[in-house]
Amino acid sequence: MEEDRLEIVGPQRMCGELLVQGSKNAALPMLAAMLLAEGVYILHHCPQITDVDHMLELLMDAGCLVHREGHMLIVDTRGAERCRLSGSGAGKMRAGVTLLGSMLGRMHEVEIPYPGGCTIGRRPIDLHLKGLEQLGAVFEHREHALAGYAKDLRGADIVLDFPSVGATENILLAATLAKGRTVIHGAAREPEITSLAGFLRKMGAHIEGEGTAEIRVEGVERLHAAEYIVPSDRIVAGTYLLGAVMTGGEVRLLHVPTQHLGVLPRILAQLGAEIALWEEQDEISLKMERRIHPIPYLATAPFPDFPTDLQSALMAALAMASGPSFLEEKIFEARFQVVPELRKMGARIYEEDSLAVIEGEARLRGAQVEARELRGGAALIMAALAAEGKTVLGGMEFVKRGYEDIQGDLKKLGIVLH
Ligand code: UD1
Repeated sequence: MEEDRLEIVGPQRMCGELLVQGSKNAALPMLAAMLLAEGVYILHHCPQITDVDHMLELLMDAGCLVHREGHMLIVDTRGAERCRLSGSGAGKMRAGVTLLGSMLGRMHEVEIPYPGGCTIGRRPIDLHLKGLEQLGAVFEHREHALAGYAKDLRGADIVLDFPSVGATENILLAATLAKGRTVIHGAAREPEITSLAGFLRKMGAHIEGEGTAEIRVEGVERLHAAEYIVPSDRIVAGTYLLGAVMTGGEVRLLHVPTQHLGVLPRILAQLGAEIALWEEQDEISLKMERRIHPIPYLATAPFPDFPTDLQSALMAALAMASGPSFLEEKIFEARFQVVPELRKMGARIYEEDSLAVIEGEARLRGAQVEARELRGGAALIMAALAAEGKTVLGGMEFVKRGYEDIQGDLKKLGIVLH
């Protein structure tokens, strides 16, 4: 099998137990945060994914030393002095933009290549820049890079028009070292914000209100290095839970902070799954013994509502439901790239602007399909498990941006891969 392709012969049932990998979206801003203070940081349960590799490239470009031992990552930021980063990492992934907040905080100057990431529509950074400007930063758009300066960062009252995850992170990072008090109104409430605040607090930051729409930060003179455990990835967990729904499976996922799942358990139950949550042990189990129920209407929305990152996997499941469903994408434009691929597998889905009409009743069959972005790729893999016959999926490099070893995970969940 070629490296960038995956072959799956279905249908197969997903059955078994799995320890879920560390969260991509939690780990990336923590890596950016390390540039706020000199020292030796240790991150446990850090996922081995290409987005983390790209962020580490940027940190090394700044002068950091990086050592990895499995899922433990040691980063020595004592030599980090370069504030002009040219590493190709930022161009490949969106999260590089959070370096703006941390580098302005400590180095007062930054230059990064324009951020990349999945091709899921326009992804402006106006809210990031506006928030940082309110703290005292000045930006200059150069041909291939974005440059920023901040002689002194001063706390401010910042109102976000939309609870952007990345903008909240960037402002939070910069505010930790700004003079005085910053209040972020309309902040994102995603679990990744809560874990970033937890990490920053271990570094000595004064933060309150994370997980709510109002975050208050009292700037401190300096921060210090810290050790932290990255929480497990709620989106990876959600992908496999939906995979179990689609394959009539029975799975138990370990090391999943159940409060990070938001409405997902309720939606899985609505699809017809039996769910059990063990909050104290951070575990969730799911058993699916009936046909998938349709969902009359569901829209993606900020946490704790249904995450845009699971929209394509849910769409794949609804294609097999016993009736029609309507799914609206309200966070990103151009996030229905999986639709033509699912159609090749027999799904009956029509899109109109941000609305997908999923007819249901599909008996999925294997096909040659192409992942065009990370989460859509994972959704196609789940669909392939449920489909009759052989699926050949191209574009695995997108999946590897966020799933550490999806083949290994599937094998642990009882799937036979050739
Ligand atoms: C993060 C996640 C991504 C997830 C998304 C929404 C990371 C690395 N990525 O992305 O997996 O899908 O949250 O939960 O954590 N927007 C603006 N201006 C801005 C910033 C955002 O208009 O300055 C818009 C975006 O175009 C989009 C919406 O706000 O329509 C949400 O974006 P945001 O919450 O910022 O997502 P990301 O942080 O990019």
